[in-house]
Amino acid sequence: MKKLYIKTYGCQMNVYDSGRMADVLAPHGYGLVDAPEGADIVILNTCHIREKAAEKVYSELGRLRPLKAAKAAQGERMIIAVGGCVGQAEGEEIIARADCVDMVFGPQTYHRLPELIARVTRHAGARVVDTEFPAEDKFDHLPGHAAAPGPSAYLSVQEGCDKFCTFCVVPYTRGAEQSRPVAAIVAEARDLCDAGSREITLLGQNVNAYHGVGPGGGEWGLGRLIQHLAAAGVERIRYTTSHPRDMDDDLIAAHRDVPQLMPYLHLPAQSGSDRILRAMNRQHSTADYLRTVDKLRAARPELALSSDFIVGFPGETDQDFADTLRLVRSVGYAQAYSFKYSPRPGTPAAAEEQVPEDVKDSRLQTLQQLIRAQQDAFNRSHRGATMPILLERTGRKPGQLIGRSPYMQSVHVYAPDRLIGTVVECRIVSIHNNSLGGDVVTQEIAGAHGVQEGVSA
Ligand code: 5AD
Ligand code: SF4
Repeated sequence: MKKLYIKTYGCQMNVYDSGRMADVLAPHGYGLVDAPEGADIVILNTCHIREKAAEKVYSELGRLRPLKAAKAAQGERMIIAVGGCVGQAEGEEIIARADCVDMVFGPQTYHRLPELIARVTRHAGARVVDTEFPAEDKFDHLPGHAAAPGPSAYLSVQEGCDKFCTFCVVPYTRGAEQSRPVAAIVAEARDLCDAGSREITLLGQNVNAYHGVGPGGGEWGLGRLIQHLAAAGVERIRYTTSHPRDMDDDLIAAHRDVPQLMPYLHLPAQSGSDRILRAMNRQHSTADYLRTVDKLRAARPELALSSDFIVGFPGETDQDFADTLRLVRSVGYAQAYSFKYSPRPGTPAAAEEQVPEDVKDSRLQTLQQLIRAQQDAFNRSHRGATMPILLERTGRKPGQLIGRSPYMQSVHVYAPDRLIGTVVECRIVSIHNNSLGGDVVTQEIAGAHGVQEGVSA
């Protein structure tokens, strides 16, 4: 068995892709290891979304170089590969800047990994770059899942983006928007459920722009796909990341009609200033966003929301930032991510005059304080509540299991390991910084159907 080490940076799509890379290499004799020392191939599956994310890759390469030398001293080769969005964006530059890198590829070419490995191993000093957007669909060339997916699994349904927000590299690194056919998604979902997954998160850079070919030949949107997957037996469904503009009526109706669709939605707003939203080319105003939130909450009153915000976008004034705080206050989030604007090479906003770093810092701090307070209040509101928790893995303390609430809160309980992979009713008894503590009150309810099976804790 050859040793494969994959380090994943960035979004859930990269987590999914890393799993699929392991699936591609498994039939070629590669097994996953959890440390890079002594590995035959090390893949960094990278993220290019902000500058810091890309810089991390170069520091990791610095740490890998001596490991590669140690392996060479034993007469063996460690292949170092940079995949993902930094690979796609920087290609040849990585080869020039980091002499330990043998191979660079992008998110659309990893199905060719065996061929790329063959090319670099054929000659001692060979190095390859494969960052084209191939005509073939990688999904047609991926094998089935090699490893057990776990109770909560990701399933990529859509990739790429055609929106071209002026801050974002995604349309350049992931390419044009593409939706997988319904039949392929249903087949993959069935495999995941057969392998024990109770929850599936549908992934896409712009997931609600999904418009895949349906079984009858017409196009299906995400709402219809979710209805279908629920009817096919997927017990818990989530999707991410969505764009406010693509929140159509079918999808909103799915939030009302499909109990398997979890009442939690990540809906990035980016800013609460219409002026900045226009400069970002977001194609929605603050009023549009709030209207969508209202419709969603009318459809599913208990829906909890999360968002992404960028502070210090070029041209952002104190007033623009105040408008963002106002939006956050009026929505009330269960949690949210916020970032300082980071100029990305080749994107339109990078060429604009930049907001000073200290201004960005102080705005970020202010926004994060507000978000933190909302998150704490949201978590506290669940004290004493009983919620169905999908138990996913063991915790750090003996006897402890960790699961997720419908609202994506991490919940710790004391329960036997055999309950991993089941949905249990838990009463929330303690509230911590980033998690909740719960007591199991009933065991094994099969997802939303409420079928009970007597298991004693
Ligand atoms: N600078 C800062 N944040 C960014 N994001 C995307 N591009 C940038 C950038 N250039 C944020 C957005 C997006 C999230 C994934 O990352 O908020 O929703
Ligand atoms: Fe980037 Fe905007 Fe597309 Fe999201 S919608 S991936 S932020 S360009």
